Amino acid sequence: MTGRFEVRGDVGVIHIDNPPVNAISHAVRLALIDGLAQAAADPAVQVVVIACAGRTFMAGADITEFASGMKPPGLPEVLAAMDAFAKPIVAALHGTALGGGFEVALSCDYRVALAKAQVGLPEVKLGILPGAGGTQRLPRLVGVEAALQAMISGDPIPAAQAHTLGAIDQLVEGDLLEAAVAFARGKAGTARRRVRDLPPPAVPDGFFAAARLRVAKEKRNLFSPQRIIDAVEAAVTLPFDQGIAREGALFMDCLRHSQAKALQHVFFAERQVTRIPGLPAEVKPRPVTKVAVIGAGTMGGGIAMTFANAGIPVTLLEMSQEALDRGLGIIRRNYEATAAKGRLTTAQVEARMGLLTPTLSYDDLAGADLIIEAVFETLEVKKQVFQRLDRVARPGAILASNTSYLSIDTIAGYTGRPQDVLGLHFFSPANVMKLLEIVRGERTAPDVLATALEVAKRIRKVGVVAGNAFGFIGNRMLEGYGREANILALEGAPPQQVDKALVEFGMPMGLFQMMDLAGLDIGYKSRQDRDPESFDPRSGRLGDLLVEAGRLGQKTSAGVYDYVPGDRTPKPSAVTAGLIAQAAAEVGLPQRTIGDQEIVERCFLALFNIGCEVLREGMAYRAGDIDIVYLYGYGFPAYRGGPMFWAEHEIGLPAALEKIRHYAQTYGARWWTPSPLLERLVAEGKGLKDL
Ligand code: 3HC
Ligand code: NAI
Repeated sequence: MTGRFEVRGDVGVIHIDNPPVNAISHAVRLALIDGLAQAAADPAVQVVVIACAGRTFMAGADITEFASGMKPPGLPEVLAAMDAFAKPIVAALHGTALGGGFEVALSCDYRVALAKAQVGLPEVKLGILPGAGGTQRLPRLVGVEAALQAMISGDPIPAAQAHTLGAIDQLVEGDLLEAAVAFARGKAGTARRRVRDLPPPAVPDGFFAAARLRVAKEKRNLFSPQRIIDAVEAAVTLPFDQGIAREGALFMDCLRHSQAKALQHVFFAERQVTRIPGLPAEVKPRPVTKVAVIGAGTMGGGIAMTFANAGIPVTLLEMSQEALDRGLGIIRRNYEATAAKGRLTTAQVEARMGLLTPTLSYDDLAGADLIIEAVFETLEVKKQVFQRLDRVARPGAILASNTSYLSIDTIAGYTGRPQDVLGLHFFSPANVMKLLEIVRGERTAPDVLATALEVAKRIRKVGVVAGNAFGFIGNRMLEGYGREANILALEGAPPQQVDKALVEFGMPMGLFQMMDLAGLDIGYKSRQDRDPESFDPRSGRLGDLLVEAGRLGQKTSAGVYDYVPGDRTPKPSAVTAGLIAQAAAEVGLPQRTIGDQEIVERCFLALFNIGCEVLREGMAYRAGDIDIVYLYGYGFPAYRGGPMFWAEHEIGLPAALEKIRHYAQTYGARWWTPSPLLERLVAEGKGLKDL
C-alpha cells in the first residue's frame, strides 16, 4: 500500500511507502491528498506529520512519468492542497529528501530531520528545475544566495547545514517518527506557519545579471541553470502565486528541451550499467580488503590513490627504489596540492599515505585479494609480470591489467588461472576520472566480474563491462574521432578550428589539445608497433611529422600548438601549419574551407559508427553503456546524452546512416563502411533501445 493514515492522539500521520526511494508517483500523490482529506475530516487531529517508510523520505518526482506526462493531480496541485490545509504540517526527514520530496517538505510548516539526512534540489542534473514551488519557497526560507547555490549545483545538503541555513527546524537522533510526532504535538492548535507567507527575499542591485554571467561560465551551454535564475528572480519580484505560475512555465520549457531528455537518459543509463545479462544476482563477489598495484607511474600512482581514498590499503610494487620513490613523491605532492586547496586536512593526507606500502618484492603481494598491473604497455613486460603473479598470488586472488589495448585473454593465458584474470581499465588521471572499464575475458569467472563491479562502486567509479576487443569500448571508438580530426586538419580546417568546434559542441578540450597534453610520442610509438594496414595512414601523418620535428606536445613546449614554457595555453603554430601542408601534399588531400558542423558530424559519426560495431559484436551490452563510457571517461557533454544518444536523437539514425554513406563515397569505404547494425536498425525502423 502506497499510503496509510494513522491517528496518534491529536497527531495525524500520513505514511508514504513506495519502494525503493518513495518517488512521488501518481499513487503517492493520491495518498497525500487522501491523507490530508482524512486529517481534515477528523476533529481530533490538530496537526499532521508526513513520514516515509524504507531508506529515505521522498527522493523526488517519479522520473519515469516525465516521458508519458503526469496524471493529475500533479505535485503542484498536491502542494496547493497542503497550502490550503487548516492545520500545521510537519515533515519527518530521513535519507535523501530530494527534488519534489524536498519541495513537499518545504510546503510543510516545520521540518524535523535525522542528523544523517540530506536535502537538496538536484533537478538541474536532470536538465530541469524545481517545479513544485522549490524556486519560490527555498529562497524565502534560506535567502536567495544559498537557494541559488543549492539549485544550480544540485548537490545534496547535509541536514546539519540545512539546519544552520534555516531549512530544517530540528535535528533529531534515534526514532525519527517518535521525535517528529512529539515535535508536532508541541504545535497542536497553533496557527499555520507557511513558507509561502514569508516575505520575498531581498537582493542587491545587479544580483541576477551577475549571477547569469557567472552561471553561463560555470554551466557552459546548459539550458536549465539560466531558467533557475529566472524563476528565483520571480520569487523576488512577483507575488507568490504569480511566482509559482512563472516557475511552472519555466519548468515546462526545461522539460521539453532536448537537454532534459538527454540527462534523463543518462540517469537511467548510469543505473543500468550494473545489470549484467547472464550474471545471476546470487553470484557473490569475492572479499577484497587488500589491494596491490604494480607500477607506480602515471596510472599506477593514480590507481593506488583511488583505493587509499576509499580507505583500502594498497601495496605498491616497482622495479627500482628510484621509481618507487618518484611514484610515492608524486602521490604525496598530489595529496598536498589538494590539502593546499583546503579539500583535505594534513591528518587525512598522512592517513592516506599511511595506507600505501611500497615494495620491491613480489613476496609482499602474497596477501593481496586484488592485484592491478599498470606497467609499460608491451606484451612482453605484461607476460613477465603475470607469470610472476601466478607464482606468488594467493589462490583466488583477482589479477587485473590496466592495459589500454592488449588482449586480456592473451594476458590471462600467461597464468594458470585465467578465470581470475580481467581488465580494470582506469582513465587518466585515475584518481579523478569516474570511469572504470571492466574488461571481461573469455574465461573470466562470474564472481570475478561481480567483484569488479562491487569494487568499482566502493572506489566511487562507474564500472562499465566491456568485451575483450582492441581498445575495448572507449579507445576503440576514439580512433574514428581522432582519424577524422586529423584528416580534417589536412583538408583545410586548422587544428584550432577543429578544437574550437569540438569545444563548442561541449567537449572539455579539443582533440589536438588533448594530444599535446598526453604527448604525441604515445600515438607515434603505437603507430610504429601496429600493423600499418589496421589504421588510415593519412590520420597519423601529421603526428609523425610533428614528433620527428621534436614537437612532442606540452612537455617540449611545442606540439600541434606552440606553448610558452610553464604556460599551458595553446597558440596556433606556423611550424605546424607548414607540416600540415607537407602532410596534405604527401597523402594527396586538397585543401578547402570546412564548416564547424562538418567537423562535429564527421568526428562524432565516425565514433558512433564504431560504437554500432561494438554493439553488434557484443562488446558492450547496451548503447547506454557506451554513452556512460564517453561521459565519464572522455568528458562528452552529459546534456547531449552520450555519442550514441546524440546520433540517434540529434542527428537521427536514418540521417546518420545517410551521412556515413556519403562519407564512404567521398573518403573511401575502407574506414567509413556503415555498421551493418545501423543499416539493419534503419531498415527495420528501429532504435538503439530495441536492441
Ligand atoms: N524517480 C523514479 N525512479 C527513481 C527516482 C526517481 N526520482 N530516484 C531513484 N529511482 C530509482 C532508480 O532508477 C533505481 O531504480 P532501479 O533499482 O530500477 O535501477 C532505484 O530507484 C534506486 O536508485 P539508486 O540506485 O540511485 O539508489 P541509491 O540509493 O544509490 O540513490 C538516490 C538514491 C540518492 C535517491 C538516487 O536515486 C537519486 O539521486 N535519485 C534521483 C533524485 C532526483 O533527481 N530527484 C529529483 C527528481 S525531479 C523532481 O523532483 C521534479 C520536481 O521538482 C517537480
Ligand atoms: P608509465 O610509464 O607512467 O608507468 C609505468 C610504470 O611501470 C613505470 O613507473 C615503470 O617503472 C613501472 N614498471 C615497468 N615494468 C615494471 C615491472 N616489470 N614491474 C614493476 N614495475 C614496472 O605508464 P602509464 O601511463 O602509467 O601506463 C601504465 C599502463 O596503463 C599501460 O598499460 C597503459 O597502456 C595503461 N593506461 C595508460 C593510460 C594513460 O593515460 N597514461 C590510460 C589508461 C591505461
